[in-house]
Parts: sequence; structure tokens; C-alpha cells
Amino acid sequence: MADMTDACPAPILSVRNLEVTLRTPVGDLQATRGVSYDILPGETFAIVGESGCGKSIASMALMGLLPRIAHASADRCRFDGQEILGLSRRKLSRIRGNTLSMIFQDPMTSLNPVYTIGDQLTEVFVRHGKGNRAQARERAVFLLERVGIKNASARLNAYPHQLSGGLRQRVVIAMAMMCSPKLIIADEPTTALDVTVQMRTLALLAELQKEFGLSIILITHDLGVVASLSDRVAVMYAGQIVETAPTAQLFADPTHPYTQGLIRCIPSYGTPDPDSELSTIPGMVPSLIGRQKGCAFRNRCPLAFSDCGQVAEVALQKTGEDHAYRCLRPHDSLIAHWRGLHGESV
Ligand SMILES: Nc1ncnc2c1ncn2[C@@H]1O[C@H](COP(=O)(O)OP(=O)(O)O)[C@@H](O)[C@H]1O
Ligand code: SF4
Ligand SMILES: [Mg+2]
Repeated sequence: MADMTDACPAPILSVRNLEVTLRTPVGDLQATRGVSYDILPGETFAIVGESGCGKSIASMALMGLLPRIAHASADRCRFDGQEILGLSRRKLSRIRGNTLSMIFQDPMTSLNPVYTIGDQLTEVFVRHGKGNRAQARERAVFLLERVGIKNASARLNAYPHQLSGGLRQRVVIAMAMMCSPKLIIADEPTTALDVTVQMRTLALLAELQKEFGLSIILITHDLGVVASLSDRVAVMYAGQIVETAPTAQLFADPTHPYTQGLIRCIPSYGTPDPDSELSTIPGMVPSLIGRQKGCAFRNRCPLAFSDCGQVAEVALQKTGEDHAYRCLRPHDSLIAHWRGLHGESV
């Protein structure tokens, strides 16, 4: 497999060949296969793909939050110089919420309804030995103000249900920042919010990322969201990374037919004529149960040919410095297809 990430200096997170299998009553489900990537300090790395592609499971494995039926293995899962896959609960709990934080789609996953937000924000700070209660309160007020919550001091006494969904997610972002993490994994952090609040929350995350120099993994089903927010993108399909590139390059030269399909689903990108109908990718993500053979995208791919179902495995191919795609077709013909869709000459 091409591995274009080895040249990158001192990644904060380095993942190689992450495999997660879920034992279900109807057979083993291969939720992720051979997932490899590096996250550099201070960068935003987006993981994009439709629902059911393995984005969350891949991140849950890092955090030690997989369901009991899951088994994870990897050649490497190194965070901040330490191998984290398979660490004991106790050791992981020293990392989680400390140097590595997670923001979930539903803020109530992270917030406890029976405690005030002040108690919850200060608890994480004190538990990780960052300081005493007074210092924790001071930092909580600073961060609540920083995430745009007015009267922060008074808000510490509020319970989660007294805040709107947008404010709750801001509290969760502040909580994720309490211990100055090196990496935040944000899993569909704005999907539950309305569109305006979504945009504001994502802009806030981007500001914090720059200001505090932290790294972010932004997980989303919406490629449109990552366009202005991420430095690099990995597109996931059926448990595998099928394309990875710097964001600008991915939009300039989308190579894998699945990436091309996702881009065509973004309103302002996908259709050259704003009045024409938005494209959708026909079909569904296949079942991940049982041994996978051939290209998992073949039943939906406009460029599929006989080999696509017959090869044991489709390897990642490098195209350029930091760009790779998982397809049997050569880069030129894939780009020609993309330009053809847009009426451009190659
Ligand atoms: N607790 C679970 N039990 C059984 N299957 C699961 C469980 N969680 C996830 N899966 C399956 O694992 C695959 C990957 O899921 P997930 O990582 O949640 O996808 P995504 O985050 O990309 O939407 C899917 O096929 C999903 O149905
Ligand atoms: S390997 Fe075949 S089916 Fe898969 S993306 Fe490429 S052309 Fe399409
Ligand atoms: Mg998910």
C-alpha cells in the first residue's frame, strides 16, 4: 500500500493499518480496514464519508470507546509519543479529556444533566491535576467567554437543559479545551444544530485551532463542511480510506469516483449550473459483514469494469506528493472523467 504519510515530521497522531472488527449475530463486520494516517501538530484533518463508512468506529478505537463486540488491531496507533491502542482503562482515562479530547454530535453525550456546567468544567481540570478549584473556575470562565458565552461567570451555575443546543455544544467545546489538549476529535460536532449555528460553531472551532495551535480531526458526512476548514482530507468508504489529499488539491483534482460523487453533491461545487438539479450518488454503502473482495464502490461506480469485482484488494496509488487514491483506473482517466462531467477539456 502506498504510504505518503511517512515523510511528515513528528506527527501528534500516527495510525497504521487500523482494523476494527465487530462480532455481530450475523457474522463479523469489518468496520475499518487498513486505515492509516498522520496528524501533524496544529493541523485540521477531516475524515469524510457517508453514514456507515467507519468514521466513528475508527476514532472510538483510538479513544478506547469501542463497543464490547469490537476487536481492534493496528501496526501503530501512536499519540503524543505513546502507543494508545489497548492501553488499560486507567491509563486511557489519564489521556482522555486531557491531551486528547472528543466532541460528539450530541452535546448531551458529554454533559451530565444533573450537574451544573461549572461543576462539569472544573471537574475535568481538577481530575487531571491541572490546578485547584479556583484556578479551574477561572479557566472555565475564560473559555466560556472565548467560545462566545456571555455572562460566563453566572452561566457556571446553569444546568445543561437551561441552555440551547448551540450553547450546549459551545460548553462542550470549552470543556474539551479545559486541559489544553493537543488533539481534539470532533465527530459530526454540528450535525444536530441548525445551519446558522452550525456555521458559527465550525468557525469557532477553526479560530480556537489557530489560536491554541491544537490539532483537530473533523469527522463529517458533509464534504462541503471541510472545504474551508481543513488542511487535509481523508475520504472513507466502506471502512477504507479511498482518497487522501490536501484539501485544496482534493477539490482541484478529485480522483476517486466516490470523491467525485461527493463533490457533485455539494450545492455550489457540484453543479456548474446553479439551476440544475443537485447530483446524488445512487445506491447505498454495502454491508461490511463477511470478507470483502474487490472494490467496495463497484456497485455504485460509473467507471466500474470487470476487474473491479475480481481483484482481492484495491491498493492505494500515489499521485503527487501527498495525494493518494484507491482505484484500479489510472489517474489521467479519472481526471478526464471528472473534467468531462463539468464540460471541461482535459
Ligand atoms: N455497536 C455496533 N454494533 C454493530 N454494528 C455497529 C455498531 N457501531 C457501528 N456499527 C457498524 O459499523 C460500521 C461503521 O459504523 P460507524 O463507524 O458508526 O460509521 P460512520 O461513523 O461512518 O457513520 C457500520 O456498518 C455500522 O452499522
Ligand atoms: S476500482 Fe473500479 S469500481 Fe472501484 S472506484 Fe475504481 S473504477 Fe470504480
Ligand atoms: Mg459516525
